[in-house]
Amino acid sequence: MASFDVIFLGGGPAGYVGAIRAAQLGLTVAVVEREGLGGTCVLWGCIPAKALLESAAVAHRAREAKTFGVSVGEITTDYGVAMKRSRAVSTQNSKGVEFLFKKNKITWIRGTGALTGRKTMSVTDDKGAVTTHDAKKAIVICTGSRVKGIPAIGLTLDKSNILSSDDVLIADKAPATMAIVGAGAVGCEFADVFSEFGTKVTLLEALPAILPLEDADVAAELTKSFKKRGIDVITGARITAAKVGKGSVTISLAGPEKKELTVEKVLVAAGRAPVIDGIGLEAQGVKLTDRGFIQIDEQMRTSAEGIYAIGDVAGPPMLAHKGEREGVVVAEVIAGKNDHHVNYGNIPSCTYCHPEVASIGLTEQQVKEKKLDYKVGRYNFSANGRARTSGETEGFVKIIRDSKYGEILGAHIIGAHATELIHELVVARENEFTVEEVDLAIHAHPTLSEAIAEAILDSMGRVLNA
Ligand code: NAI
Repeated sequence: MASFDVIFLGGGPAGYVGAIRAAQLGLTVAVVEREGLGGTCVLWGCIPAKALLESAAVAHRAREAKTFGVSVGEITTDYGVAMKRSRAVSTQNSKGVEFLFKKNKITWIRGTGALTGRKTMSVTDDKGAVTTHDAKKAIVICTGSRVKGIPAIGLTLDKSNILSSDDVLIADKAPATMAIVGAGAVGCEFADVFSEFGTKVTLLEALPAILPLEDADVAAELTKSFKKRGIDVITGARITAAKVGKGSVTISLAGPEKKELTVEKVLVAAGRAPVIDGIGLEAQGVKLTDRGFIQIDEQMRTSAEGIYAIGDVAGPPMLAHKGEREGVVVAEVIAGKNDHHVNYGNIPSCTYCHPEVASIGLTEQQVKEKKLDYKVGRYNFSANGRARTSGETEGFVKIIRDSKYGEILGAHIIGAHATELIHELVVARENEFTVEEVDLAIHAHPTLSEAIAEAILDSMGRVLNA
């Protein structure tokens, strides 16, 4: 039996970052992981998806190249090549995590782990050999989440017609037609990818808007942009059935859009489910929430002493950076050095479709519901010099500020590089800067960041360049 201070069950962003922080704090650490290191983010999510989005962006740019005075001849796309590049980027990142484990003297135990006690874990490797390991201080469950279908309406994942995001990440060609069910981050990102690779995409969202967690103005702008690019967007979509035919799927829609839609492939992007089975949680007294996630307190303790949970398995938002921060904090809690906390109210949300969408804090709808006294500032990228030079003038920055004190209640960006730009406002909110304080910082000219400065000024009624 090998003995460690802490064992992390799962080597995704929550587990591997937690392991590194625990090692930095002088603890002996093991991570149990059956796949490669890096979890959904590195192997099946953020990284490979962003690599494909980059291929889509290159295709888009190449089609516009002529207007920049650059001729690239006939433009063809090959999803298989893009997929191979995406897999290579993913593998490279996973190897990077392996390197970090060696650097930090973290033991990777390869196999499937299960709790055998509150401080012991069994690990079964791919040949069926079982070893037992002991955690002196804590076990951290960070098993993540997995794709899911919607069997109740016939959308059972089958790897050939009805696909998950895992499946499309290893597909070698783009279908002629595709329906994407769910317009959250996964749905919108793959709508972007496949439409650039020549697929006729229909995006079906049950709620009244795509990216329903984002500000309504942003969702409307993205809908406009998607439609302009030929993506069919159907919101308020009620799917009643899906039938698999020979090389096609027919989806029946009820309500105002009542019709049948026959496509080559369906991508189900209607959320993910926590990975909780076969771990022995119940036997150790680890309680779940109503929605099936592991229930944790503000220091990520579960209901079973000595067992903690972080990342997707511990509840939404299911975001790599939320899991990473929980990993850092849980390591510090276990080491008895709790300087940090997870500020759940200040987690940026980023969707990497084109135009990109990024936000922090409250939407205007949420501010209204809370009956806060607020003012909105907005600045369109079409008025920004840097955006004009690059020909990326879609979108805007929207700032929602408290009327009296100038606190930034929410910030929403849609446009090129929005997922990078948002961090100025994340830092501002984390440090409770007011709009006046953000305005004091000189923003270089010409930059896209000036659109933030102008939106801030607009919220004070003092916009300069509009
Ligand atoms: P999601 O929960 O964000 O979005 C799913 C969407 O599907 C919702 O808008 C929902 O209303 C809709 N939906 C559900 N059932 C439906 C039905 N029967 N018909 C039509 N629409 C239906 O889940 P998603 O996009 O699959 O992502 C999974 C998780 O991974 C999320 O937590 C997401 O935030 C995270 N993720 C984050 C990314 C990023 O930060 N860029 C990228 C990809 C995923």
